[in-house]
Amino acid sequence: MRTQVGIVGAGPAGLVLSHLLHLEGIESVVLEARSREYVEQRVRAGVLEQGTVDLLRDTGLADRLEREGIVHHGIEIRFDGRGHRIALTDLTGGRSIWIYGQQEVVKDLIDARLAAGAEIHFDVEDVRLEGIDSETPSLHFILGGTDRRLDCDVIAGCDGFHGVTRGSIPNGVLREYHYEFPFAWLGILATVPPSTEELIYARHDRGFALHSLRSPQLSRLYLQVAPNENLNEWPDDRIWEELRIRLAMEGWNLADGPIIEKGVAGMRSFVVEPMQYGRLFLAGDAAHIVPATGAKGLNLAVADVRVLARALATWYRTGSADLLDAYSSRCLGRVWRVQDFSAWMSSMLHRYPGDDGMQGKLQLARLEWVTSMESAARSLAENYVGLPFDDELGV
Ligand code: FAD
Ligand code: PHB
Repeated sequence: MRTQVGIVGAGPAGLVLSHLLHLEGIESVVLEARSREYVEQRVRAGVLEQGTVDLLRDTGLADRLEREGIVHHGIEIRFDGRGHRIALTDLTGGRSIWIYGQQEVVKDLIDARLAAGAEIHFDVEDVRLEGIDSETPSLHFILGGTDRRLDCDVIAGCDGFHGVTRGSIPNGVLREYHYEFPFAWLGILATVPPSTEELIYARHDRGFALHSLRSPQLSRLYLQVAPNENLNEWPDDRIWEELRIRLAMEGWNLADGPIIEKGVAGMRSFVVEPMQYGRLFLAGDAAHIVPATGAKGLNLAVADVRVLARALATWYRTGSADLLDAYSSRCLGRVWRVQDFSAWMSSMLHRYPGDDGMQGKLQLARLEWVTSMESAARSLAENYVGLPFDDELGV
């Protein structure tokens, strides 16, 4: 088999890249370890930045998003039993966020790619990379019990944090930056109308809680827990009780309902530099992970492949590798900004184990500042809705 760009991973990064390349007349083949059903059901992110929505819209992928996505113009930050609205749209000259599940984005992308005749192979096993430091890289894998080989011009590593592509770069090339936060999130999906119109980020002495949603009938909520938390110790009643305590505010009630999905996710900051080696380009979670408090992971994955698709299009069209050579440094500017914002949000809202009270007091001082000073609220809002791309600024 042969293609121009071999893409490993059918998450948001791999699928958006394949779509953008198609629009540029560039062929790609996507290899995915899991089944189509699995990737279409996996519950993860839910917040799309303005720039992500604009890109999906501009490239013809937003029909269902326009119908079923929910635009939000603000978020609430709750602490000391009081709620404070951050008016995202007013503070950012008209930018907003959309609530639309990551698995819905993935479904829309798979549908669009297959309708355009794309090759996406699900359930592939044992993907290996060869010749990434040559001009003829190839992907080797097993499909339906048969050994296959895919020759490419370029390979895109879009296979997430636990994928294989990053590990095929020789030792000593990459510098890894890694920080594990001393907490995790227990996330639930519940069939109950959300008790709020806007997302609520709550700081409480017992730990952070977040009330999000997926639709008018489906709520998504999170609780800060220990990194090694045992889900078995969290029957549904205990989850609702703890959410009720941490989100408590006078005159406000949390409605509960059947929990249909439950999971614990760790919180880490991770970056590799550079995001390229030879003919292998890493994108999305394969190259970086952000703590979920900033709601940025999916958006950052899309931002990477936006840069990569343009660079590849220029390379194929003109033969100039200048943009490809600049891929890593262009992406890393945004990556570190988003890392900083996500770590900042995380440290403002979570309880730190072993805190003797000092951390808590500093958090409250920061929260008072962010919710009372317009300049501080504006900084939060600008980062939350997503910073504009260089080309939107005309530079
Ligand atoms: P992935 O979505 O991980 O896709 C990688 C794909 O590669 C997967 O389909 C995987 O099966 C496949 N793969 C892996 N190994 C191989 C292999 N060896 N061969 C072939 N295929 C392989 N982000 C936000 O922006 N907003 C949020 O609100 C948000 N909330 C989150 C909540 C939770 C609980 C979690 C866990 C994450 C959240 N994120 C959020 C992060 C977001 O989900 C990720 O950043 C996003 O999925 C990254 O996309 P990706 O395509 O880079 O990687
Ligand atoms: C979600 O809806 O899943 C969500 C919302 C905001 C976050 C993280 C996750 O910061």
